[in-house]
Amino acid sequence: MKAKKIGAILLTAVTAVSLLAGCGAAAEDNQTETAEQTTQVEAREPEDTPDDSETENSGSAEEIARTETAGTGGNTLVVYFSATGNTEAVADVIAGAVGGDSFELKPVQPYSDDDLDWTDDNSRVTREHENENERNVELTAETVDNWDSYGTVFIGYPIWWGIAAWPVVGFVEANDFTGKTVIPFATSSSSGMGESGELLAELAGTGEWQEGQRFRSGVSEEDVQTWVEELGLSQ
Ligand SMILES: Cc1cc2nc3c(=O)[nH]c(=O)nc-3n(C[C@H](O)[C@H](O)[C@H](O)COP(=O)(O)O)c2cc1C
Repeated sequence: MKAKKIGAILLTAVTAVSLLAGCGAAAEDNQTETAEQTTQVEAREPEDTPDDSETENSGSAEEIARTETAGTGGNTLVVYFSATGNTEAVADVIAGAVGGDSFELKPVQPYSDDDLDWTDDNSRVTREHENENERNVELTAETVDNWDSYGTVFIGYPIWWGIAAWPVVGFVEANDFTGKTVIPFATSSSSGMGESGELLAELAGTGEWQEGQRFRSGVSEEDVQTWVEELGLSQ
């Protein structure tokens, strides 16, 4: 009788311990799952863009435009506008690879983070986007020293609402590209070049404009260098 009682107590204790252990394992599983979910969400966040749903998703390094560069000789210039540094990073790699000069297009009134908030109906970019006559962005300089010495001009910009960010327009309109090979390039979160290059070529009215290339915002140096090598311009 005594032995039976001890057996019953032991059985109860063993059951209680295994139940507790089971709960612990379940709690651990939950924690692991939550941590994984958080990591995934964080990794996806930077991909959001104003018009992800509207524009074509293209432009990986594999989609390099087979640009027929005339290579008219002379020096190479890399002109760019960059609001948050992505296009500038690409411009730096191109300039380094071709041994060219750089020229940054700087708005007299630089774009603040608030100015660039495309989710705000009243932000500067949203107003400029909605009213074409507000897109004449004055630049600190729109002409380049020794312009005639450049046979090849790269021109870089971020994609804004599917087109070239408009601060490049003033430069394109102010210069004569006659006799020059012009190679547009852009960075964007997901949109392709779209017609951005063609529209700039129309505004310029001169120059041998090439198809150009779009890079994703955080493109690697290697991918940009590969593109420049394909153009046959790298040193
Ligand atoms: C006002 C605004 C509009 C944008 N529109 C687009 C767009 O239409 N498609 C896209 O893929 N990315 C869009 N983006 C993301 C930028 O193109 C991308 O972050 C780019 O690499 C920024 O270049 P930057 O750092 O040289 O300014 C937009 C960003 C801003 C600020």
